[in-house]
Amino acid sequence: MEEKLQALRQEVESEIGGVEDEASLQNLKAKYVGRKGVLTEILKAMKDVSDSERPKIGKLVNETKVFIEGLFDTKFENLREEKKKRALSQEKIDVTLPGRGAASGALHPLTQVMEEIIDIFQRMGFQVAEGPEVETDYYNFEALNIPRNHPARDMQDTFYVTQEIVLRTHTSPVQIRVMETQEPPIKIIAPGRVYRCDSDVSHTPMFHQIEGLLVDEHITFGDLKGVITEFLRLVFGDDLGVRFRPSFFPFTEPSAEVDIECVICGGQGCRVCKETGWLEILGCGMVDPEVYKSVGYDPDKYSGFAFGMGIERITMLKFGINDIRLFFENDIRFLMQFM
Ligand code: PHE
Repeated sequence: MEEKLQALRQEVESEIGGVEDEASLQNLKAKYVGRKGVLTEILKAMKDVSDSERPKIGKLVNETKVFIEGLFDTKFENLREEKKKRALSQEKIDVTLPGRGAASGALHPLTQVMEEIIDIFQRMGFQVAEGPEVETDYYNFEALNIPRNHPARDMQDTFYVTQEIVLRTHTSPVQIRVMETQEPPIKIIAPGRVYRCDSDVSHTPMFHQIEGLLVDEHITFGDLKGVITEFLRLVFGDDLGVRFRPSFFPFTEPSAEVDIECVICGGQGCRVCKETGWLEILGCGMVDPEVYKSVGYDPDKYSGFAFGMGIERITMLKFGINDIRLFFENDIRFLMQFM
């Protein structure tokens, strides 16, 4: 028996020596130490060994098994090592090959225009302020002098979360939040998402506005006209026609709507400007004394102006886009045109 085991060790050693790949080694391992392997057969033959010899032979058989398994483990390890070395020496990198271009992303057209507008106002000295999109009735309406029976409060326009909580319908509530926490001089813009229950080619339930507020001593309507005209010419072009039309907002007095010369037809009259040659672009006015009362400012000491505009509308006019919904479908063929 002892000799048989010794012979087996040698046999396995020499056979392993000739193996060159993992699959063959796996087969060889099955032949010797598998369930139907040579060693298993030998173990079965133990029943013919005499009782006195059994402990000694048993020990020998086990040692042989451990030894043979060790041989296989080492060989597996060596084969893997060799394979890795081969791969490393063969897979050389050709550093002279031209690179593959990586597709680069770009900002959404709305983001581009929003950033451009913010940039213009920052250069004029305005600071960016923010407020919550889920707003209370007080900030969205009450403090802005919008009475209970105002059409803006209609369920048709406003998304109500509860009786007292709404999705903000404009960025104007940020005016109140800023004035509540700071004393004049105030010079802020407030960009952000707003919500109205409306949907067609020129309305989506969520859209973007940017609000502006400037309050200090001795601020006049002339200051408002100057800031707005300068801003619109920076966005749409140097000698753009701009006009202020009397209008009404509960939180400004006097109020105005601002029109620009139609950027599609150059003022000749077309479908976009409904043959008028003018496009309505934003709302503005001098802050109403009622609003100063809400935030505890002295209306005899301070005056100021506010304005608000829709980013989608400005972006559509700037790029000649005729359907607002294109902004939110995220069709890559549309977006790629603004890279
Ligand atoms: N909040 C107004 C709107 O959404 C716009 C506006 C802002 C008008 C500030 C005047 C002053 O229509």
